Amino acid sequence: MDRIKIFSPATVANISCGFDALGLALEGIGDEMVFTKRNDNQLIITKIEGANLPYDIDDNLVGTVIKAMLQKLDLQIGLDIEIYKGFKPGSGLGSSAASAAGTAFAINELLGKPFTKTELVQFAMLGEEAACGSPIADNVSAALFGGFVLIRSLNPVEVISLPVPDDLFITALHPQIEIKTEDARNVLPQEIPLKDAITQWSNVGGLVSGLYTNDYKLIGRSLQDVIVEPYRKKLIPHFDSVKRAALNTGALGAGISGAGPTIFAISKGESHAKQVELTIDNIYSKTDIEYYTFVSSINKEGVKIIK
Ligand code: HSE
Repeated sequence: MDRIKIFSPATVANISCGFDALGLALEGIGDEMVFTKRNDNQLIITKIEGANLPYDIDDNLVGTVIKAMLQKLDLQIGLDIEIYKGFKPGSGLGSSAASAAGTAFAINELLGKPFTKTELVQFAMLGEEAACGSPIADNVSAALFGGFVLIRSLNPVEVISLPVPDDLFITALHPQIEIKTEDARNVLPQEIPLKDAITQWSNVGGLVSGLYTNDYKLIGRSLQDVIVEPYRKKLIPHFDSVKRAALNTGALGAGISGAGPTIFAISKGESHAKQVELTIDNIYSKTDIEYYTFVSSINKEGVKIIK
């Protein structure tokens, strides 16, 4: 194989209760990337569309991921790399993760699949670390595995795929402001009260149980975040109104997607998700903040080869 084109999905990390431990992949929104082998050993980013990102391979997380993979195999190859961003960095939808996971997946395919999916998560995490200073696994795991994922452990990396109930739909509102993941992590406390930790891990258990039993109401009750959301929501204009409106319109739950500013809601059924979209669109249309909204099903496949 000399050339590969892939689609790498946007993702929602944390899913309210599972900071750094839960993620899900979205359908229809993501990046496309093309990797073409060269006759020499140079790694060259030839095109970037959709975002203002560095072309220098040493400054782009794509280079970090490729070099780590080649070093592990003690191999040198040359590649032309095209990056078509389907959504912006700093959106809370796992932009750096989509590039990192897409790169790890594509290089693995080009090299004849020497690595396992879990190893690809580890390489992609290096890309996350290059982009935001922390080797976070939730977005890259959701992008690579698809569906819902639980990161049970980072050392060693252990990713568990969770079931995806058929009728879950995500509504997302992306205000066009950029929040850097690093900044959104810096507002968080280093220590938390035990009672909050209890609430949080009980909700993670509830959410996981709800996914296994198709218990939509339990999923909704478990979508609570008493640890991270109180700090981060201050960075997102009108967060409380949007969340309240989504819940009043029948969403099972709503919260901050990853590090924000995207706000997500989960609903049972596409028509409910679309009603939620109308409601939150109505709130943001009265502000002077640019934004867009979309409804997505859960992407069960993760990164994939496209034509
Ligand atoms: N779990 C990470 C965070 C995701 O919320 O900081 C970053 O995209």
